[in-house]
Amino acid sequence: MGSPQRHLITCALPYANGPIHIGHLAGCLLPSDIYARYLRMKGKDILFVSGTDEHGVPITLKARKEHTTPQHVVDQYYDLIKNALTEFGIQFDNFSRTSRPVHHEMARDFFLKLLEKGVFTVDTTEQYFDKEANQFLADRYITGTCPNCGNENAYGDQCEKCGTSLSPRELINPRSALTGNAPVLKETKNWFLPLDRIQESFLNEFIDSHKADWKSHVYGQCMSWLNDGLRPRAMTRDLDWGIPVPVEGAEGKVMYVWFDAPIGYISATKEITPDWEKWWKDERTELTHFIGKDNIVFHCLIFPAMLHEHGDFILPKNVPANEFLNLEGDKISTSRDHAVWLHEYLREMPGREDELRYVLTSISPETKDADFSWKDYQARVNNELVAILGNWVNRVVVLTQKYFDGAIQEYDPGKYEEVFAEANEYVRSADESAENFRFKEAQAQLLNIARLGNRFLQETEPWKLIKENPEETGTILRASAELMLMFADQIMPFLPRTGERIREMMNLSKGDKINAGQIMNTGELLFTKVEDDIIEVQLNKLKKEEKMEDKNEQTIKPEIVYDDFAKLDLRVGTITEAEKVEKADRLLKLTVDLGFEVRTIVSGIAEHFTPEEAKGQHVVVVANLAPRKLRGIESNGMILMAEDSSGKLKFVAPTGGADNGSPVT
Ligand code: MF3
Ligand code: ZN
Repeated sequence: MGSPQRHLITCALPYANGPIHIGHLAGCLLPSDIYARYLRMKGKDILFVSGTDEHGVPITLKARKEHTTPQHVVDQYYDLIKNALTEFGIQFDNFSRTSRPVHHEMARDFFLKLLEKGVFTVDTTEQYFDKEANQFLADRYITGTCPNCGNENAYGDQCEKCGTSLSPRELINPRSALTGNAPVLKETKNWFLPLDRIQESFLNEFIDSHKADWKSHVYGQCMSWLNDGLRPRAMTRDLDWGIPVPVEGAEGKVMYVWFDAPIGYISATKEITPDWEKWWKDERTELTHFIGKDNIVFHCLIFPAMLHEHGDFILPKNVPANEFLNLEGDKISTSRDHAVWLHEYLREMPGREDELRYVLTSISPETKDADFSWKDYQARVNNELVAILGNWVNRVVVLTQKYFDGAIQEYDPGKYEEVFAEANEYVRSADESAENFRFKEAQAQLLNIARLGNRFLQETEPWKLIKENPEETGTILRASAELMLMFADQIMPFLPRTGERIREMMNLSKGDKINAGQIMNTGELLFTKVEDDIIEVQLNKLKKEEKMEDKNEQTIKPEIVYDDFAKLDLRVGTITEAEKVEKADRLLKLTVDLGFEVRTIVSGIAEHFTPEEAKGQHVVVVANLAPRKLRGIESNGMILMAEDSSGKLKFVAPTGGADNGSPVT
């Protein structure tokens, strides 16, 4: 086969039905970004694509829950997801959407090609139907008890507890997710991919050929599917959200979301390059799919079966799926809001992106499930990034400043051969690990360069040597600077900001080498300690979610009479100024215009709104609340807030607006 000419890297398309959390990051977003950055750094020709998955039942269910349209849901989450990933530094060549015309066209052509080649079998079967909602219940529209593990909330396509893939008819005690009713069976016609036939003609051999090079849990899961025997799977659904099936007699049907979504990788390629065919139709392209383990069957069996039957496209060379990441010992759950959301992390812990990358890679669920905990996060940042890496870099910069006004000195590299040989060995071994998708190991090997750097300083003691031998002190610091630069360049795929910042500290642009006389910038700290209070805020947020859960059984406060209510003087106002209260993470000092007077009100909303966001908001104020001192500031009144199910605060304000000072009665 020879070595590949180019690398096409894909990351599973997240559903556009919610924000990104650390499970998505650890599952495939971060490893795919590291791999893409790594190959780019090595000068390879690469293309890295992903996007949002905007069809399927997860989207329509979300729209129903939020009393809005599927279109509104996907538009809203596409922006949120894309912005958060960009800010976090996932460097896609294209982050597309499956709702775009280029994708609809690609999926339609793909379907028609399979149809033309006679790949599909057409079958009329009985499917669950909700009479009250007048709708067929595909996939996640139906829930019930998992026949495998007894989980009572398994979906019609999969049990999220044990990971078993299911079909609706396998569920025990099925219920409609729309009405809760027991469904009835009703006949409908669908187009099936005959996976039983394709298993014999292709998949058995395809999977067998990857016995040695795929991760063993991936290969193992594939084999367990094959050993059970694949069955035909419907590629069409009776739903009104998705890509219409381009066939006569299929009116009102759409493609199965797992048919169209992976084709999204092809569309995302076509969208950005007229040369897209070389990426998909040339055997010299190496295709790698990064996914989470719940996606294995779709990427290792179903999509390859589609590609093979289509005939024009290459097949994945590897599918390095990760296992699951848990949070504080518990499964990450969107519905229970047991998650660390990326957009919130970016807002609440600004400038700490590389820390999160570091920790998620350190605990990456590459071969088994892993657990993220805030205490562990704090320990890894403080004991590794701050104490080892940050400390080393800081020492080199500060000592060079102190003894040589920042000027890097001449040296004889031969003198430090051993040190460089050791560092080179870490790099070599990190490369080998990264090429085999063992990013956790690779990152750890690179951090060994920082450990080596510290050890080197400890052994040579430049702070003692400076008195008797300034020249050798200079060469020690030069050797340290060389090590630092080496580290900075190699760590780029893992901690891109950190790599760049080290280069900035050394006053070196990308690609520049060190020359004697080069002046280092005065150092700023690479990392700062994560103090207990930061962790506490995050842990409390998670606890709050649990409390919110209990609150679902709403308890109403004891009854009052009208006179109790009438004691409150509620007024409409506008926040005209807002600023943070020093040393109080939760408080904002607000200036509120009530029309007849202007008040100062201190409000515990700083974790929910920036001062800029608060400014200009219309609010309702309890205007006759006794004054109270908070952090030395007198607060005159209280702002009414609503708390949503995720614990987020929202301002309460008259719709359509009202003049400042208007009473609320
Ligand atoms: N949206 C799916 C999920 O989150 C992944 C789709 S990956 C693709 O599980 F291959 F279908 F695009
Ligand atoms: Zn189960």
